[in-house]
Amino acid sequence: MESKVVQPAASLRGSCSVPGDKSISHRAVILGALSNRGCTVKNFLEAEDCLCTLEALRSLGIQIEHEGSTLEIHGQGLDGLRAPAKPIWCGNSGTTTRLLMGVLTGQPFEVRLEGDASLSRRPMDRVIEPLAKMGAFFLDVKETPTHLPLRMRGTRSVKSLQWKSPISSAQVKSAILLAGLYASGTTTVEEPSPSRDHTERMLEACGVPVERKDKRISVEGTATVRASAIDVPGDLSSAAFLLAAGLLRASGELIVKGVGANLTRIGFIEAIKSMGGTCRFLKTTQTGGEPFADIGVKKSTLNGASFGGDLIPRMIDEIPILGVLATQAKGRTTITDAGELRVKESDRLSTICRELTKMGAHVTEAPDGLIIDGPTPLHGAVVQSHGDHRLAMSLAVAALVAKGPTTIEDISCVATSFPTFWTLLDQLRSAG
Ligand code: S3P
Repeated sequence: MESKVVQPAASLRGSCSVPGDKSISHRAVILGALSNRGCTVKNFLEAEDCLCTLEALRSLGIQIEHEGSTLEIHGQGLDGLRAPAKPIWCGNSGTTTRLLMGVLTGQPFEVRLEGDASLSRRPMDRVIEPLAKMGAFFLDVKETPTHLPLRMRGTRSVKSLQWKSPISSAQVKSAILLAGLYASGTTTVEEPSPSRDHTERMLEACGVPVERKDKRISVEGTATVRASAIDVPGDLSSAAFLLAAGLLRASGELIVKGVGANLTRIGFIEAIKSMGGTCRFLKTTQTGGEPFADIGVKKSTLNGASFGGDLIPRMIDEIPILGVLATQAKGRTTITDAGELRVKESDRLSTICRELTKMGAHVTEAPDGLIIDGPTPLHGAVVQSHGDHRLAMSLAVAALVAKGPTTIEDISCVATSFPTFWTLLDQLRSAG
């Protein structure tokens, strides 16, 4: 198992760009494949999760040319997929699995989906239940909770659905909306708090009518998908690690350029500002329905704060790194309504608490959140990623402010979302 020793950093400096947004890259491959014409994707995230989606669509018969971060997808329209010759490998990626299940609901053939140990522990009932109502047939599913591997068969006569989801999950919402493309009539999903809306935005940009009313999103079936060019912004969830490092150690302003600044994703930016972090959007633009921004941060004195409710889905992947910042903030930080973290790549409430405690942090695990008291001087330790990319990178940022070196074990998982993380961190460190 590969490990890495991270030394403390006195200061960080400079500007950089992060690779493409993971969520948008998955959706670009899927909607490109379902498009009735060729589609060029720029700044596609070449990381393991999105490469699984790319290979999955290839195995479903779609020709995709891949050079660097540019893809040429030869879309075949909604009915252009064919049965794969072997099981589809979803790796570590919940988004690949659940969004594909939505598309496969409209395919009249059987597919087996498989994943790694972490993905095979994650709940699939949340998509199986609505998709079965739409006409998908799940073989071998006898009891809940249901996990990968699983076999499913879709249908050419998908039924529309009105679904009130008990959880705020963009993967669930997107699976249902993608299945809804194949239904006759209107499919509607309602969620408790709005989750990331990249699917809705991309569908609209592809000419599919989408209606949004409060927390309800509807899509019309049997529409044509017209994707032609998709420009993927930098991933805010990756930028968050560098921005957090900047809040703790920047000399001058540290800038991350061309980052996706979609309102449903920028909860972390709002959170760090409410903790007293100096953070600003420098240049903003809009491409293909998604806003982009250059984001600058300065070293800041942080204060503890309370986070919960609608903000949580808008920063769901940034809670591990927010936890690291909270260890350096004055006073108590409480995070509530974050029970979903228990079913991510690791049980993040438990793993963040366990690993930061090894470094001297005062973190208490609650059923649906965390309580963190600070500021605490951290010390180097031997810590585990638990195979969770966001935990590995959060611990690397914690190591920058710790006394003495930190060894992070099992770091290969970083490649699932941010393969250039270590290089970028070293660049900012050597300029610092
Ligand atoms: C994602 C949605 C979120 C997020 C994940 C990516 C997506 O998951 O945690 O990293 O691309 O739709 P949930 O839908 O399970 O909340």
